[in-house]
Amino acid sequence: MIKSFYLILALVLEIIKADEIDVRFARNYFEERGIRQIAAFGCWNPYVGKLMAAARAVMLHTSLIKSNLQTLLFQNPLGVRWYYGAAQFIGDRLPFNESYFWLLKMADRSNEQLPLDLLDQLPLSINAEVTVAIRGRGRDSRRYDLYDVYNPSYRHGGSLNITKMGYWDPRGGLRNQLTQYKYKRRGDLRGMNLNFSIVVDFLPNTVDLMTYLTTPINKHLDTMHRYNYALTQQLRDYYNFTLNLLRGTTWGYLINGSFNGIVGDMINGIVDIGATPFQFKPERIDVMEYTVQAYMAKAAIIFRHPKRQQLSNSFLEPFSKHVWCLTIIIGILNWILLYITIKVEQHFIGNAANNTLLTQPESETFLITSAAICQQGLSDTPRINSGRIVYTSLFLWAMLLYQFYSASIVGSLLSEKPRFIRTIKDLADSHLEVGIENMSYNHDFFRTTSDKNVIDLFERKISLNKKRNKFPYYTAEEGLRKVQKGDFAFQVDLATAYKIITDTFNEDEICDLQEIELFAPKHTATCTSKHSPFKKMMTYGLRQTIEHGMSRRLNTIWYEKKPVCPESHNSTPIPVNLQDFSPALIMITAAYFFSICLLLVENLIKKIMHVKK
Ligand SMILES: *[C@@H]1O[C@H](CO)[C@@H](O)[C@H](O)[C@H]1NC(C)=O
Ligand SMILES: *[C@@H]1O[C@H](CO)[C@@H](O)[C@H](O)[C@H]1NC(C)=O
Ligand SMILES: *[C@@H]1O[C@H](CO)[C@@H](O)[C@H](O)[C@H]1NC(C)=O
Ligand SMILES: *[C@@H]1O[C@H](CO)[C@@H](O)[C@H](O)[C@H]1NC(C)=O
Ligand SMILES: *[C@@H]1O[C@H](CO)[C@@H](O)[C@H](O)[C@H]1NC(C)=O
Ligand SMILES: *[C@@H]1O[C@H](CO)[C@@H](O)[C@H](O)[C@H]1NC(C)=O
Repeated sequence: MIKSFYLILALVLEIIKADEIDVRFARNYFEERGIRQIAAFGCWNPYVGKLMAAARAVMLHTSLIKSNLQTLLFQNPLGVRWYYGAAQFIGDRLPFNESYFWLLKMADRSNEQLPLDLLDQLPLSINAEVTVAIRGRGRDSRRYDLYDVYNPSYRHGGSLNITKMGYWDPRGGLRNQLTQYKYKRRGDLRGMNLNFSIVVDFLPNTVDLMTYLTTPINKHLDTMHRYNYALTQQLRDYYNFTLNLLRGTTWGYLINGSFNGIVGDMINGIVDIGATPFQFKPERIDVMEYTVQAYMAKAAIIFRHPKRQQLSNSFLEPFSKHVWCLTIIIGILNWILLYITIKVEQHFIGNAANNTLLTQPESETFLITSAAICQQGLSDTPRINSGRIVYTSLFLWAMLLYQFYSASIVGSLLSEKPRFIRTIKDLADSHLEVGIENMSYNHDFFRTTSDKNVIDLFERKISLNKKRNKFPYYTAEEGLRKVQKGDFAFQVDLATAYKIITDTFNEDEICDLQEIELFAPKHTATCTSKHSPFKKMMTYGLRQTIEHGMSRRLNTIWYEKKPVCPESHNSTPIPVNLQDFSPALIMITAAYFFSICLLLVENLIKKIMHVKK
């Protein structure tokens, strides 16, 4: 009994003595790197137990690892100390990402040798935090040499990179030379192949993809993609990788529970990074990683604003309805007053020869009134003072009326017409036809929106009905040609639209243009696949490119400026068009027609009377 007790104590003492420096190293190393929780893998032995007591460590026995590892690791970010002996984990998918700091301590018997064949098989990536510690021999036995190990990407066939990190000894603690920013230090990918994917909708037949993407010819087509591709190229030069460009069908939308397009490819692991920028959508957050936003996608409904409301008449426009009613009432009142004064005149003064005013007082007073309103004169005037007062006041009133009327007409021709279609709702209520650029994000927007006005617009102007048997989806050119003709509103990407408008619209047409935003400008960002090891690296690189002004330079190359309506345009009077003028023509034609008819009828009656006699 007593014998065996001693034996155990001796054993324990022996172990503590041998591993004291080891434990100190492990504790100190993780402390210096700011790590508080440790999981240790290895065979169950007192050394690990001591480590556990020293730090808040979790102990895992080899046999437990298989079952518990995933759950244990993924609950907390941990510093992980790993024994060489545990090589059997290679087959498991251990998380060698920046959430976990791995410390690989070589078994003392392995002696100075880096286990290259083992490290080579680890699925390391650019973001791995793996350190190999090798204990010195002899005089240096209290010192550990440290090596930083990573692979640009095991999955992409990169080669292992082992960099001397520094060393640890009990006196000086950790001496770490690799204090640079990780992705700057590891910034040379040595020509590794990365799969990028891009969406191109308007590739012309005459040039190949690369020429199309890199030359700013017809820059209104696929602007977003080509702009972002230029950024991606900067990134390629920055990190020295090879850009393997694939062509995706579309961005990637959730349809029937699965993603299509580039997002689908990312989920399938074919595509690492999108060269096409993505707009932010909640369902995409779960399947991809957004990095840096550079391009702002703007789209709007563009149309030539109609000059005036349909069904309104420019001759009647200067006065409101009430004023016209009052004018008629005052006209009739004047007519009656004039008639009364004529009757009074006849009564007191009697008839004079050749005076139609006295022979036909009803029609003659009517003529006087209408002449006054129309700014004309008549030869016959009342002879008594009361009649003359009515006559004068009638003409004065008519002059004032005319003054306002003509001034308003001239004013309305000179001034810019008020724009009365300003919102989606106004547009839905207007007589304009609406078209949509045939782009997948537009289809997606109408499919997913919950805005009442937009749904209303869709139902009234876009969805199929009795009159519309085809969805009004057009290419930008077709749509804008219709816009140019007028009475057509078109939802289109502004970068595309501005180029076409600048090229094909004249000044008057540009000045008529009105924009309504269907959705707010969309920030778009370059994306990597979910949990991609390259996410932070690409973010850093893109930020560098953008903050060094490269994106501003690209803006001047790829953005088309909004066509402006010159200031002077307002002061040129708008000619009256035939449509506005037509009521006058119709009136006079009707009058001719009516009088000729009357003439014929009169003649006919006369003839009949003649025959009867
Ligand atoms: C590291 O990998 C684990 C498991 O795959 C994951 O839960 C964690 O979010 C990753 N960390 C980072 C920073 O991507
Ligand atoms: C290995 O990585 C270091 C940075 O950790 C870098 O300076 C060096 O160029 C890389 N070597 C190779 C061959 O990639
Ligand atoms: C880029 O990678 C290649 C290897 O593919 C290497 O030879 C070259 O030196 C690297 N360029 C730079 C600027 O580091
Ligand atoms: C989605 O599912 C519906 C019904 O299951 C089917 O009619 C439709 O064709 C599917 N759409 C696509 C794009 O697969
Ligand atoms: C990159 O794309 C090619 C097809 O062009 C594919 O064969 C390869 O597996 C992809 N690489 C990765 C790492 O997914
Ligand atoms: C819209 O574009 C798709 C391909 O992107 C095409 O299949 C479809 O016919 C187009 N629709 C119209 C109305 O042009």
